Amino acid sequence: MPEANRFAAVGEMTRNALIKNLSVRFEETHLPQPGDDARALVCGLLDLDLTDLVLAGKEAVSEDDVARILSAAERRCRHEPVHRILGWRAFYGRDFLLSPETLEPRPDTETLVSAVLPLSRSVIAARGRCRVIDLGTGTGAIGLTLLCELPQAEGTGTDISQDALATARRNAQRLGVSDRFRTICGNWFDAVEGEYDLVVSNPPYIRHGVIATLDEDVRGFDPVVALDGGVDGLDGYRSIAAGAMSHLAPGGHIAVETGYDQQDAVCGIFQDHHFRCLERITDFGGNDRVLIFSRKPQA
Ligand SMILES: C[S@@+](CC[C@H](N)C(=O)[O-])C[C@H]1O[C@@H](n2cnc3c(N)ncnc32)[C@H](O)[C@@H]1O
Repeated sequence: MPEANRFAAVGEMTRNALIKNLSVRFEETHLPQPGDDARALVCGLLDLDLTDLVLAGKEAVSEDDVARILSAAERRCRHEPVHRILGWRAFYGRDFLLSPETLEPRPDTETLVSAVLPLSRSVIAARGRCRVIDLGTGTGAIGLTLLCELPQAEGTGTDISQDALATARRNAQRLGVSDRFRTICGNWFDAVEGEYDLVVSNPPYIRHGVIATLDEDVRGFDPVVALDGGVDGLDGYRSIAAGAMSHLAPGGHIAVETGYDQQDAVCGIFQDHHFRCLERITDFGGNDRVLIFSRKPQA
């Protein structure tokens, strides 16, 4: 069917038929998950969940909505990720707004949150509060999730990007934790004062030379500053390890996300700065993903 006709026919379509239509179009464009993308886009733009589709998939879609969805589908065909188009992405069961300078939070990063929750709860049990700093907070995914899960925690989100911090603050407001969240703009610990019980970070860790080879969906839409970890991918860890000793409260912990093949190198960096690795944690796919450190005991 010629292009114009294929989309003209969609005006009379049900939700299910619209998803099918988008799915075919995405398959022709060689997108890797055409059905999932079509469903996510239609559900996201019409504010439906899967139950709505099962129970009312045959409901007709208004012409205005069809037009909106088709224009979104065109963006997806140009490789813009579904959640960039929608403007939000779910993380640990909550929706986070995105903006041009924020990374889309990834499911692998939820591993870090799950890993530090028990540590934070122990701190709260012992001291009544837990001071958390999320370095390179982006949307605020890690830090704000911890504040939502731990009503006695207080958090600071830092980033080099003002745009990211503005988005993190909006997310804090939407999640109802803005009274316990503040932001600092700067290079890792440079503008940070005071001590924290928990330092968390998912720094950029892709090797500079690999950036050009990433999928177009990532390379073209996630901000480079959120991806590029320097020549060996480890620049962020070096800066964080160098600054952490002055800002870690006694008994405190550091948790960082890493690339699947970086854990030995990252452990080495933190050991050089007098931290010891307490735990190595794998993600849902079985890849090395999170490291937890504490201060080395005094000799
Ligand atoms: C991989 S993203 C992680 C974003 C978010 N924490 C998450 O897990 O979804 C890295 C973040 O670090 C920030 N960043 C990059 N270089 C930085 C620097 N020198 N100092 C502080 N933040 C930096 C980026 O802007 C980005 O938001």
